[in-house]
Amino acid sequence: MQVQGRVFLVTGGASGLGAATAEHLISAGAKVVIADMNSETGERLVSRLGDSCAFAKVNVTSADQVQDAIQLAVERFGGLHGAINCAGIGNPEKVLGRQGPHRLESFAKVIEVNLIGTFNVIRLAALQMSLNAGNEQGERGVLINTASIAAFDGQIGQAAYAASKGGVVGLTLPVARELASSGIRVCTIAPGLFATPILEMLPEEARKALGDQVPFPSRLGYPEEFAQLARHIIENPMLNGETIRLDGALRMPPR
Ligand SMILES: NC(=O)c1ccc[n+]([C@@H]2O[C@H](COP(=O)([O-])OP(=O)(O)OC[C@H]3O[C@@H](n4cnc5c(N)ncnc54)[C@H](O)[C@@H]3O)[C@@H](O)[C@H]2O)c1
Repeated sequence: MQVQGRVFLVTGGASGLGAATAEHLISAGAKVVIADMNSETGERLVSRLGDSCAFAKVNVTSADQVQDAIQLAVERFGGLHGAINCAGIGNPEKVLGRQGPHRLESFAKVIEVNLIGTFNVIRLAALQMSLNAGNEQGERGVLINTASIAAFDGQIGQAAYAASKGGVVGLTLPVARELASSGIRVCTIAPGLFATPILEMLPEEARKALGDQVPFPSRLGYPEEFAQLARHIIENPMLNGETIRLDGALRMPPR
């Protein structure tokens, strides 16, 4: 599917990988609705990116708020052709920590945002995109999810995060199989270590140490590199039902 003139919803689009993707797609001629809980950073980005961009304050776990963001895409830009799920949270916690066993609420919260929130956007965006006429290849839409290499090499303290991202990897194929008959593709990107605000808060030395673990190139990934892959998935009609690691060959050690 071509990017030019198409309309995309980017969750978590106010920061990091989502913000880079929103900016990249707009520079390629797309219209983007940024759906994020953080209205301060979201509104600021939208005012920088201009009229091709709109902001919706959304908690991805809310059916109504996600539906409203999709409605905004339809009313402001005339439809919806893709959704890129970047909203996510971390919250490392050990199963047996100093304060006692892993809190059940914090485990559930990570699953709720990362897995259930992603699925919430998938189901509502898929319904809207199924109404599209379809291009010459019959494509009506594209869904891109963000997992993590923690889905495969989760570290100590990442039980909840790795479970949530493993869930995103797990749903990719069955959802792609089901939505094939609607002309909607589904892919997931599993990033390694990327230089987003979470890691930018670390001292330069700590960031360099993380980057040094990556075989090649030995550095943190640039958010723009994630955005490039998201764009390629949109443009390449043969990519479907797959999770793609984007990690410079990094395999995370236990801790
Ligand atoms: N940065 C990395 O190294 C890395 C590696 C692997 C996976 N990821 C994944 O990539 C995604 C983006 O990460 P990032 O590094 O850009 O993080 P980030 O914190 O810079 O951006 C995440 C955005 O999601 C938003 N958000 C959080 N919870 C939300 C909710 N319930 N509803 C709506 N928006 C919500 C935040 O407000 C923020 O703007 C996440 O899913 C993360 O797990 C990141």
